[in-house]
Amino acid sequence: MQGNVSWQSPSNIALIKYWGKHGRQLPRNASISFTLSNCISTTEVEYDTGAGTFSVEFNFEGQRNDAFGSRIGKFLLSIVDKLPWIEQSAFKIASKNSFPHSSGIASSASAMSAMAMCLVDIDAQIQEMSYLDIPLASELSRLGSGSASRSVIPQLGVWGECHIEDASDDYAIPYADQVDPVFHTFHDDILIVSASEKSVSSSAGHQLMDQSVFAAARYALANDRLLALTSAMQTGDLDTFGSIVEDEALTLHGLMMCSEPSFALLEPNTLNLINAIRTYRSETNIPVYFTLDAGPNIHLLYPDSFSKQVSKWRDEVLIHFCENQRIITDQVGHGPKKLY
Ligand code: PMV
Repeated sequence: MQGNVSWQSPSNIALIKYWGKHGRQLPRNASISFTLSNCISTTEVEYDTGAGTFSVEFNFEGQRNDAFGSRIGKFLLSIVDKLPWIEQSAFKIASKNSFPHSSGIASSASAMSAMAMCLVDIDAQIQEMSYLDIPLASELSRLGSGSASRSVIPQLGVWGECHIEDASDDYAIPYADQVDPVFHTFHDDILIVSASEKSVSSSAGHQLMDQSVFAAARYALANDRLLALTSAMQTGDLDTFGSIVEDEALTLHGLMMCSEPSFALLEPNTLNLINAIRTYRSETNIPVYFTLDAGPNIHLLYPDSFSKQVSKWRDEVLIHFCENQRIITDQVGHGPKKLY
């Protein structure tokens, strides 16, 4: 079978962080994230499942990229147990991101989930299925990059076994319909403190947890926090939501700073922004919070009903702490979209 498919898929921002893994990219604790809408990867796959031998040609942002091609080739061969037709197929893949390469935004979640959606779409055509197997798409995304498992889920995805009945270590599940609708409206403005590659590679980060003296306490805490966070989200308790999300971001960085070797990724302006956000919140009572990825950039989280006041303050005050005054505005989104 020959054809073309193309999918867009977004990045996501974790509220409870996945940090520590085992086995075949399985999480040590459960995590939950907002799926974003503007930070997306677009991937198109031209395929010939009757080629007889496996080959991959990869273009990134319009240019042939053999380094990425060899990584994606290894990934594809690592999932032939899930999709056996891959082994006899020729692929021409082209991928691009909506956000600049050097923006400090990790593209692995959007890129791997866009690739996984293309693969599951091709598989559905081969099997003559009239629907797409989203748990399989999430599982394939996970095998590419753990956090990518959550990007195929609209609005709010939970990945990892926990108090939620259907939750699984293999793939992420939807959680948006369990929470107060205020959380469907959340903004995530990414305040770029530094766009340089000063982040711990996630594989290095997950490995650090294997030796961490805090490992057992961390995994238990993450699952306790997930329970408390989901309860707060069900009742629309923004104060509790914000306090858990901020503690979680600082815990991630605390773990990195206290690991062996130690990584301090927070920049002076990260702390300046944290202080500015906390001061503004206590002065105005506006529910605006921060979280962080494994890098120095602040993700500013707030409900849409406060966007007028928050965006004014952001563009008058917070922007001065950002490198080249750069901010990427995003918000909770609806997950992957098929282009053709
Ligand atoms: O999916 P990975 O292996 O790149 O790990 C992502 C880890 C964090 O972004 C720090 C947290 C998370 O849950 O997304």
